[in-house]
Amino acid sequence: MSFKHEIFEKNPLTLLVGILIVVAIGGLVEIAPLFYLENTIEKVKGMRPYTPLELAGRNVYVREGCYLCHSQMIRSTRDEVERYGHYSLAAESMYDHPFQWGSKRTGPDLARVGNKYSDEWHREHMHDPRAVVPESVMPGYPFLAKNDLKFDLISSDLKANQMVGVPYTDEQIKFAKADLMAQLDEDSDDYDAFQERYPTAKVRDFDGNPQKISELDALVAYLQMLGTLVDFSLYNEKENNR
Ligand code: HEC
Repeated sequence: MSFKHEIFEKNPLTLLVGILIVVAIGGLVEIAPLFYLENTIEKVKGMRPYTPLELAGRNVYVREGCYLCHSQMIRSTRDEVERYGHYSLAAESMYDHPFQWGSKRTGPDLARVGNKYSDEWHREHMHDPRAVVPESVMPGYPFLAKNDLKFDLISSDLKANQMVGVPYTDEQIKFAKADLMAQLDEDSDDYDAFQERYPTAKVRDFDGNPQKISELDALVAYLQMLGTLVDFSLYNEKENNR
């Protein structure tokens, strides 16, 4: 048996320095390569930052604490994929500050709820969930249709997101207010400019009340785009051909 390790075992300070050196080597091996990776998130076609209206809807979602009952993260297990669709990709929440993955599912996952129901269904459901799902335990949010959406500060909101890395252009920030209104009205003068800035955004009056820009307008616009940006037929094909 070798007694070379005695020097460490009999001198706590030497042992400590030894431990630090070994841990530092382990740390370097694990952490250093990450600095040379351009990006740990794989780029995915179709992802774009939220439109001002969707961002405002997302703020309502966060304010009301919808994440306390709903996740936005489909795990890569078979039961989840069969129920909710393709598992969530990292890129799908890369513009989320803060992310809305959630940690509890009293209600279903919402990562791909966009286009699943009509706007009318959402309006009824948000007003009184039991009107469309009799056994629902979700609370109603009837006040959202009555509350005017406050969006005076929406440009600053985009700017704050830009500061933490969301690639909003200065033009998008400058016209955020006009873009928010343009997304609710196909006939507005700003329609073309809006479509140019957000090519895949859906434009319509989401709350069914053209007289009013309500919090419900924003929330439904947000819910209807969730999980719709990435065209998964491209990915499924690739996976099937493996
Ligand atoms: C107390 C828990 C709870 C909270 C808070 C809650 N929900 Fe729900 N949610 C549920 C339950 C349970 C269901 C399933 C029954 C139903 O459809 O109403 C549901 C269903 C849904 C659905 C339909 C999903 C699907 O695929 O069928 C949507 C959309 C939804 N909620 C949105 C919201 C939004 C937006 C908020 C925040 C304003 C919210 N929920 C807050 C519990 C909750």
